[in-house]
Amino acid sequence: MKAPLLLILTVWLNAQYGGCAPFSSCSRSPMEWCSSLDSAIQCGVLKQCLESNFTRSHQAADPINVGLYYESLCPGCREFLVEVLFPTWLLLNDIMTFTLVPYGNAVEKPDGQKYIFECQHGEQECLGNMIETCLINMTRAAFPIIFCMESSVDVINSAKSCVEVYSTELSWDKVMSCAKGDLGNQLMHLNAVKTKALNPPHEYVPWVTINGEHTEELQKKAMSSLFSLVCNMYKGTKPPVCGQGQRHFKSYCHNE
Ligand SMILES: *[C@@H]1O[C@H](CO)[C@@H](O)[C@H](O)[C@H]1NC(C)=O
Ligand SMILES: *[C@@H]1O[C@H](CO)[C@@H](O)[C@H](O)[C@H]1NC(C)=O
Repeated sequence: MKAPLLLILTVWLNAQYGGCAPFSSCSRSPMEWCSSLDSAIQCGVLKQCLESNFTRSHQAADPINVGLYYESLCPGCREFLVEVLFPTWLLLNDIMTFTLVPYGNAVEKPDGQKYIFECQHGEQECLGNMIETCLINMTRAAFPIIFCMESSVDVINSAKSCVEVYSTELSWDKVMSCAKGDLGNQLMHLNAVKTKALNPPHEYVPWVTINGEHTEELQKKAMSSLFSLVCNMYKGTKPPVCGQGQRHFKSYCHNE
């Protein structure tokens, strides 16, 4: 079930960015292809970047922010992230932003200047949360890397190769020194603070906010059809892809 998603992503990226593999002079990750005229030319996607920039400049409204409070090893979180949130963002990133907060039902205890974390699905989950938190802080390619991890059979053991596939400039050693060090600890504490500040407080994960707001109705709609929800809520010129349906999905990990 998981492996074909990577294939779909690859095919989608190919279709979206020109229908053939990027030029060999293109050494950048897809996230950066449109970052400058030079890279757009080197990567053979100038036309698509110009079109996407044009579309962007004609949309005055604020993008819809989708917040996901989750845990790296919670099955329901993984499925929502992999099968709903990431594909929706791929199609709608002109009108949508995302906020990922890996923490969920974890708890923290102060330990001198630092914190000790305990996670619902054990130490491995804490490590997964920590790696993903560091990625979010360290690279703009964090979402594809996190998607790659969460869609793999082994979330933690896939992390290194996911980083290597999706980011050319980020080194795995740097990610791990964040994850094992003070920076990771401090960033995870911020996730704890953000999660504790949720209003209403979260009762399960995945817990979704839309423009910072959580209601049962928004959660239900996000679970069953995030794509339509974002399209419908967006107040600017809707991109052409709005008008197609989206898969249904629902599964939760409850707090004990
Ligand atoms: C697209 O827009 C960004 C930000 O406005 C700009 O930096 C970039 O050069 C543009 N890309 C192309 C290919 O025009
Ligand atoms: C990364 O974390 C540091 C320390 O909290 C912060 O100063 C910086 O703004 C963060 N960067 C990003 C891109 O979030």
